[in-house]
Amino acid sequence: MIVLVKIFINGYGNIGRRLASALAVDKEIQLLGVAKYSIDDKVKEALENHYDVYVPKEAIGKFKEQGYRVTGSIEEAVERCDLVVDAAKEGVGYDNKKNFYEPMNKPAIFQGGEERIGERAVADMIHNSRVNYDKAAGKTYVIQGSCNVSGMGRVMQPLIQKFGNRIRRFDIELVRRWADIEDTKPVKDSIEWDRNPHHQDDVKDFIPDANLYVDAFKVPSRMMHLHHMFVRFSDGVVPTKDEILECFRDEFGVAIISSAKGTGDVRKKALELGFPHGDTNMVHIHQDILRVQDDTVKIAYSDDQTGMVIPENHLLIQSMIFRRSRNEALRRADNLFQMSKRRAILEEEFR
Ligand SMILES: NC(=O)c1ccc[n+]([C@@H]2O[C@H](COP(=O)([O-])OP(=O)(O)OC[C@H]3O[C@@H](n4cnc5c(N)ncnc54)[C@H](OP(=O)(O)O)[C@@H]3O)[C@@H](O)[C@H]2O)c1
Repeated sequence: MIVLVKIFINGYGNIGRRLASALAVDKEIQLLGVAKYSIDDKVKEALENHYDVYVPKEAIGKFKEQGYRVTGSIEEAVERCDLVVDAAKEGVGYDNKKNFYEPMNKPAIFQGGEERIGERAVADMIHNSRVNYDKAAGKTYVIQGSCNVSGMGRVMQPLIQKFGNRIRRFDIELVRRWADIEDTKPVKDSIEWDRNPHHQDDVKDFIPDANLYVDAFKVPSRMMHLHHMFVRFSDGVVPTKDEILECFRDEFGVAIISSAKGTGDVRKKALELGFPHGDTNMVHIHQDILRVQDDTVKIAYSDDQTGMVIPENHLLIQSMIFRRSRNEALRRADNLFQMSKRRAILEEEFR
């Protein structure tokens, strides 16, 4: 008899909704339910998707008064599950850990908005499936790196493996989207800079030797992030464009495309093709602007902010709970998310 792993998703925002629809169809997982904190149209959506909804115990009455079916309190959900995937708004995961997960002895995955260092640290590692998948096996608390950090690891690690210490330095100009497609908050007409981007330190958590420098700018767009990565080589022998692209031909979650004019083209194509939630779940290397200049290779890739971390969370579950080999976990994730198939479609569409 197969024993299903019971997973509770604590938070039903942009990431929680996507995690729920992916985990609900994995036959090894029993999606115990999702948490809702606010009474809004997402409660109806969750119920229509046949998810059990858990809410703070003091709010159960109010949800019921509005006619919503509530299965139980957050405490009850944590008690009943084998693993919590915390998808709370940034920073709240720490309080959840202290109030619920630790006292009830439940393992948890946190998202990239949580702290890895300092008083409010929630875990002692950040997961990136391309780099430290095996290290998460059997861990109780792990942070899944944010969309940008996941994308950076996915592009840097194959380059490091192929060119090693010929790479002197990585610089990334990170052009961030202002909001996600579903967000109702207004998009401000401004380009804002980040005085202290976290991405550099987060990546060094799993690639400690990376000589990496990140600057981040937020632009008025809802579509995707764009990373402009500058890779500087030290011995005067800079790889050719083909040698660079070769590193990514068989990489999970990396598409190589040519004819998109911007991030909006990729997002709109994913919506037009009916990809779940309009996500590609990958990074897309724009080979038309991949340049080799003097000692530097410039690689631009768009990073699907909402989609990137969903297969990553699934892979992390495979490591933490099932302790599977990375190859087996990738095979399962590919099957669940149809990554290879969708990559081939995108590469054909943007040939
Ligand atoms: N959006 C992205 O592109 C993206 C990408 C990668 C990683 N992340 C990370 O993923 C996390 C979630 O981001 P998001 O974009 O999904 O945020 P979001 O859309 O703002 O959703 C946050 C959710 O947190 C819920 N919430 C409120 N109080 C909570 C509590 N005490 N415990 C648990 N959940 C609570 C909210 O519930 P109600 O709606 O019921 O109030 C809401 O559904 C953050 O750490 C973020 O940094 C986001």
